[in-house]
Amino acid sequence: MEIPRHVAIILDGNGRWAKSRNMPRNYGHVKGAANVEVICRAADDLGIKYLTVYLFSTENWRRSQDEVKALMKLFHSYTRTAIRQARENNMRCRVLGKEDELDDTLRKNLRELVESSRNNTGLNFQLAINYGSRDEIVRAVRKLSEDVKTGRIGDPSQITEETISSYLDTADIPDPDLLIRTSGEMRLSNYLMWQLSYAELYFTKTPWPAFSKKDLELAIEEYNRRTRRYGGLKKGEED
Ligand code: IPE
Ligand code: IPE
Ligand code: MG
Repeated sequence: MEIPRHVAIILDGNGRWAKSRNMPRNYGHVKGAANVEVICRAADDLGIKYLTVYLFSTENWRRSQDEVKALMKLFHSYTRTAIRQARENNMRCRVLGKEDELDDTLRKNLRELVESSRNNTGLNFQLAINYGSRDEIVRAVRKLSEDVKTGRIGDPSQITEETISSYLDTADIPDPDLLIRTSGEMRLSNYLMWQLSYAELYFTKTPWPAFSKKDLELAIEEYNRRTRRYGGLKKGEED
């Protein structure tokens, strides 16, 4: 079986999962955060090299103040746990998203997570937090424009697809091969829109807190049944 090198996940359905158990939404977020580690281990076991999870979108600030507050509090404790898990499981962690809107403690934790795991050689784990594709592109274009202005990029005609990729938060990370979205919605919700151009898309009704290693294996089985195409040619037959 071919294992996708990079799997991206939109972890959705925490709230509905909790509601179906007559529990508050935040209970779903707590269980959902705990499940992230389970799936990191599963991904590593299966030989996946890059795993990118969507934890909080630039649009998620629109939720009730109470929910946003509870999520930020959860991210504080989750990032502390992640620092330990990265060490124990040899994971290299990176953060995607607009850092400057996060509070100081969370930013400090995220920096520590990235710095302390920099030399780890196992699973590459990306946390998308306060992430939105459109925001990522805006930030990239601003930086690129600065570099044209200062002459680091001599002429706009030098700008290629590779240049743009290198200005995104995912610079140096290969594009996802497989996108999984849990809990039944079939949209991208502003996730990795540039990077997912040729990914296989997989949607499952299973809500995130219930998503297991078995479900990840099912997604990879389905991925193997797909004939990946790139510009109308089967992958590997490009030449
Ligand atoms: C995903 O679960 C977690 C976040 C987006 C933070 P949701 O909170 O979106 O749960 P549902 O989709 O409302 O059930
Ligand atoms: C997408 O889920 C964002 C994350 C998983 C962090 P949402 O539940 O916020 O997306 P919409 O609102 O259903 O599109
Ligand atoms: Mg949702």
